[in-house]
Amino acid sequence: MLTGKRILLIIGGGISAYKSLDLIRKLRERDAAVIPVLTGAATEFVTPLSVAALSSSKVYGELFDLTDEAEMGHIQLSRSADLVVVAPATADLMAKMVHGFANDLASTLLLATDTPVLVAPAMNVRMWEHAATQRNIATLADDGVAFVGPNEGDMACGEFGPGRMAEPLEIVAAVEAELLDGPLKGKRVLITSGPTHEPIDPVRFIANRSSGAQGTAIANALSALGADVVFVTGPADVAPPSGVEVIAVQTAQQMLEAVQTALPADVAIFAAAVADWSVEGASDRKLKKTKDGLPTLTFAENPDILAHVSQLKTGRPELVVGFAAETNDVEANATAKLKRKGCDWIVANDVSPETGIMGGSENDVAIISQAGVDEWPRMSKDMVSRKLAQRVAEAIA
Ligand code: C5P
Repeated sequence: MLTGKRILLIIGGGISAYKSLDLIRKLRERDAAVIPVLTGAATEFVTPLSVAALSSSKVYGELFDLTDEAEMGHIQLSRSADLVVVAPATADLMAKMVHGFANDLASTLLLATDTPVLVAPAMNVRMWEHAATQRNIATLADDGVAFVGPNEGDMACGEFGPGRMAEPLEIVAAVEAELLDGPLKGKRVLITSGPTHEPIDPVRFIANRSSGAQGTAIANALSALGADVVFVTGPADVAPPSGVEVIAVQTAQQMLEAVQTALPADVAIFAAAVADWSVEGASDRKLKKTKDGLPTLTFAENPDILAHVSQLKTGRPELVVGFAAETNDVEANATAKLKRKGCDWIVANDVSPETGIMGGSENDVAIISQAGVDEWPRMSKDMVSRKLAQRVAEAIA
């Protein structure tokens, strides 16, 4: 619950402003006070009357409003909340924030506030991907602004891609993460993520198709619940999470060493797609074509990091979670893996090419533990991560 929390909600002028009406309801259901501010453009998309009715609050809109200034000046309004939420945050509004413009009430409040700011961007995919917007996002993040979304999907303008405003419940979760001590506060969680690269010679390596998306999403979800996250990552495609300790490695051996250095931890989640084999006697010079035929690679077995940590006699984390990426007999293989490795849970998924899971944005998982099999419906990797983080919190609370 958000009882006693005051949220200054700035609604920008975009089609997703309609979702902000639902956001107000969801915040009110959690007992937060919502003080709404509409930009001029926002009033073209939602009416001040609906916003007032749902928030049970006065709606602010004009910078030079004599009544407002008499009752509560805009400086005071900017500081009266525990959190400022901008949803939807248009490209224009974020550009104003970056440059410190203050030519309407919303931008003035954002410049004058001394409370944390959470932004939910929403715009056309090309506008989102434009170098100017990406520069602005990076600057705002550097300034300490927190972000939720945007999500990828069909857009009101008929295009597809990132730019959809985060769903109201996702924004509520981000608000809670900003305002509440999460259930994992004080817990240290170690996560491995991404592929490993096993060198053949200085320029060639053996790798796999893991993007690191699932591990990164899990790190974000756990950190949103207040955990101190140590993120050990191989060379992934996706950027590592912000606000967590990141240790970058290349090989399985380096990953094991990084994990050993990062322990002890309360929870360890092994989402990395660790190569099973390294190339024995990898050459320190580039292999050349010769007339004597093709080179022969001999493999050596890599350390099994999950099994190693699961079977530690001292200093074993209270909860150890492994992943099973299978292409057939998923449940049976994952159950056997749970026993073989000695971990507490296996998150099992089917990575057959036709599922589009490896490298994709969705996942279809079952959680296998001593208690049995819990099958989850197909959902975004972000949603899987949030559910998993919640389950971790319940298990070790
Ligand atoms: O044995 P398999 O590779 O299918 O097991 C997958 C699980 O084990 C994943 O959680 C993965 O991160 C972990 N693993 C590991 N070290 C290895 C191989 C797998 O930690 N060398």
